[in-house]
Amino acid sequence: MAQYQENAIVTRMEQLSSENYRITFKSPQIATASRPGQFVMVRSSEGTDPLLRRPFSVHQTISDEEVQIYFKVVGKGTRLMSQFSAAEKVSLLGPLGRGFDLKKDQPACLAGGGLGIAPLLLLTRKMVEVSSHPETISVILGGRNKQEVEPLEKDFKEYGVNVLITTDDGSYGSKGFVTDILIQQELAKDCMVYTCGPEAMMARVFAISSEKGLRCQVSVEKEMACGIGACLGCCKEKPDGDYTHVCINGPVYYGEELKWAK
Ligand code: FES
Repeated sequence: MAQYQENAIVTRMEQLSSENYRITFKSPQIATASRPGQFVMVRSSEGTDPLLRRPFSVHQTISDEEVQIYFKVVGKGTRLMSQFSAAEKVSLLGPLGRGFDLKKDQPACLAGGGLGIAPLLLLTRKMVEVSSHPETISVILGGRNKQEVEPLEKDFKEYGVNVLITTDDGSYGSKGFVTDILIQQELAKDCMVYTCGPEAMMARVFAISSEKGLRCQVSVEKEMACGIGACLGCCKEKPDGDYTHVCINGPVYYGEELKWAK
C-alpha cells in the first residue's frame, strides 16, 4: 500500500473542548490514499524534543486534499501540536497500517469511547457511501462527559446514521457506558461491530458481540516509535502466545485475532 512522507500544511485548527483538538492538514497524497482505520505519524516539532513522531488515527479526509486528526493534549508533543497555527508546515508519514474491512450494504454498529471516536468518522462516511440504507448503521459515542462527545455529534449525524450518546457522568445522552447501550441494541444477524477506545471497553464490546453471534473489528491504540515495523515497540499478544506488531498488522484486528485480559 502506498505510503507518503509529506510536508503538510495546517489549514485549520479547532479546539473542541478544553483538552481536545482537531487539526486539518493539506496533505493530498495521504488524504487520497487513506482508508478508515489507518493512521498517520505526526512530527510535533522540528527540533529533537520530542524526537519521535506520534501516531494518530485518520479522523476524516476532505476532497482528496485534506486529512484530519483528532486528539487530546496528554504531554509535550500533543501540547506543541495544540499550538500549531494555520499555514504551518508539519511532516506527516502515512497512511499506515491495516484499516477496517467494510462491505457494501452490511448493517453495522460502531462503538467509540473517548478518543476512540476519532477513526469512526471516516469509517461512517465510507460506509454510508457504499450503503443504500444508512439507517442500518448505528454509532454509539461514549465519553466521560458532555465535553468529550457533544462537539463531534453533529459530524456523525450529518451522514443520516443512528447516533446514540452516552456519558459516564450522565451530563449528555444516557448515563453509563458504550457497552450498556450495545447490550440493549437489537442488531441484525449479519451486523458487523466496529470499536475503538480503551482496551477494557473493546474487550467487553468484543465479548458482547460474540454473545450476540456477531463479528467485531477492534482498532487498537498502542504507543508507537516508528510506525513501520522497525522498532518492535508495538507488540500485542495473540491467542496462540505469539505476538503481532500493531503498526503493520493492525491497528485494526478482528477481535478473535488478539488475546484479551480476563
Ligand atoms: Fe515500531 Fe511498530 S511502532 S514496530
